[in-house]
Amino acid sequence: MYIYLNNDFIEADKAVVHVSDLAIQRGYGIFDFFRVMDNVPLFLEDYIDRFYASAKTMRLDVPMEREAFKSTLFELIKKNNLPMSGIKVILTGGYSPDGFRISKPNLIIQQAAFLFPPDTVQPKGVKIITHEYVREMPTVKTINYLTGIWTLKKMEEQGAVDVLYQMRGEVTEFPRCNFFIVKQDGAVATPAKNILKGITRKHVLALAAKKFTVKEEIITLNDIAQAREAFMTSTTKRIIPIVQVDDKPVGDGKPGQITLTLLHDLIALEREEREKYKAVSA
Ligand SMILES: Cc1ncc(COP(=O)(O)O)c(C=O)c1O
Repeated sequence: MYIYLNNDFIEADKAVVHVSDLAIQRGYGIFDFFRVMDNVPLFLEDYIDRFYASAKTMRLDVPMEREAFKSTLFELIKKNNLPMSGIKVILTGGYSPDGFRISKPNLIIQQAAFLFPPDTVQPKGVKIITHEYVREMPTVKTINYLTGIWTLKKMEEQGAVDVLYQMRGEVTEFPRCNFFIVKQDGAVATPAKNILKGITRKHVLALAAKKFTVKEEIITLNDIAQAREAFMTSTTKRIIPIVQVDDKPVGDGKPGQITLTLLHDLIALEREEREKYKAVSA
């Protein structure tokens, strides 16, 4: 298994970064994560856009242009030949002489096997809890998951699978997922502000717009109490129905029909994307 580190493809267990890196000293860095299906990176352009945007906001220079970056990713995919996998791209603050100032960033690209359950398995609904917090740089995919990791214990103690951030009653996102509700009138709504704009969120919004009314707006805890359905989205989870928030059931307490329709449509879109890419590269 190879890892890409700065200019080299290195055997995974030989890839090392010095402890003076700002990622270690101050938790300063960004990353992104996308899936590879049958050796095809899904929705790659979206993830690259977000990676460069995160780097820019955090004042980190990606050490290569977009086309060279893409070629490097394809070379890694070829070398590792892990048809069903995930790729994580990390850009750190670099080796800081004073432990505080940004230096030349280190670029790390890792690949690991990643498999979904078969498409025929319907996801079970999950319980989530809420926690008062807004991420410090919500539009950026930073490597800082301090509150998400810290709240794991609270989550486990309450038998929940994730923690939805809220501030003064307005909900935003999970540490690693976006949040949606289906309102009483059947509209599909998701928070508009103080979030990372997930790539799955983007595709789910586009799919939902073909069949339902969609809204990007403020969503409150009260809106959730009135909602018919709720679900979460991410690259690693696709769409997971939410059937309980804190101690209250969502709707009738079962995975909702619109949620399951959107999951079905998302799986179909992934297949289309893979086939489209194969057709282009054939
Ligand atoms: C804070 C945050 N929100 C949302 C998401 C979901 O984004 P995506 O659908 O691009 O995986 C992530 C992904 O890790 C995240 O870190």
